[in-house]
Amino acid sequence: MAVARVAVVTGGGGGIGRAIARALAAPGTAVVVVDRDESLAAQTVAEVEEAGGAGEVVVADVSDPADVQRYVEVALRHTGRIHVLANNAGIEGVVAPLADYPLETFDAVMGVNVRGVFLGLRHVLPGMLAAGSGAIVNTASTSSIRGRANLGGYVASKHAVLGLTRVAAAEVAGTGVRVNAVLPGPVRTRMIASINAMAADRGGVARAVPTREAEPEEVAGVVAYLASDAAAHVNGASWVIDGGSTVS
Ligand SMILES: NC(=O)c1ccc[n+]([C@@H]2O[C@H](COP(=O)([O-])OP(=O)(O)OC[C@H]3O[C@@H](n4cnc5c(N)ncnc54)[C@H](O)[C@@H]3O)[C@@H](O)[C@H]2O)c1
Repeated sequence: MAVARVAVVTGGGGGIGRAIARALAAPGTAVVVVDRDESLAAQTVAEVEEAGGAGEVVVADVSDPADVQRYVEVALRHTGRIHVLANNAGIEGVVAPLADYPLETFDAVMGVNVRGVFLGLRHVLPGMLAAGSGAIVNTASTSSIRGRANLGGYVASKHAVLGLTRVAAAEVAGTGVRVNAVLPGPVRTRMIASINAMAADRGGVARAVPTREAEPEEVAGVVAYLASDAAAHVNGASWVIDGGSTVS
């Protein structure tokens, strides 16, 4: 199968990343699944192949510049270009008030969620700008636009992801390259189960307007749209996917 389009999905072994990889899978598309967990990434590749696409695993830590350089090099082997980057890997840290929030956990969350997204932008944007096209979708969160008690590391990191998205979008405006963010509310994956378990004594994650958890596919559908030519004039958007829980 000749490859015409290359998509990189970081955190591609996880709940949302796997759904994004499946949504982008198509004949002629190679999906490069980047994750620090090899077996989760391999399962995603199997699902991409079932969907008629080509897939490839890259075991990498998105917070390590050498690893980011390596996943970019692997992706470029197909066509010399990266058409889509879903900058999606993230960790939740712990649920604790700021005074008790462990410094090493704060640094770890910022390292993956902020430094990882920054490095993805830094290593992928130059090639896209040289080609005059490409789409990056960063996975932010409704925690990018709200404070949440006891999730200090995560909320700070997701505000930063939105900031980086806006800076990148301003830098690429008018070039044919686009950078957008999706802001999911709670999504039914391992991460939200972990956060809810840690916050069980507080009734789980507080929501302004109670809504159900999203399915990962409901996030992936928006990512696939933002990555597509149908969104050619969408740049710098922060697309909330929460059933309306943050409107008030
Ligand atoms: N689940 C939710 O409720 C929710 C809501 C809003 C935003 N998000 C965001 O969506 C993204 C995906 O989360 P998810 O819910 O699918 O969680 P998940 O835990 O199922 O998936 C995260 C994936 O990222 C990988 N990963 C973690 N650190 C990594 C690193 N340093 N390098 C490479 N891979 C790494 C993990 O191995 C895992 O496969 C995250 O950025 C998360 O913050 C999730």
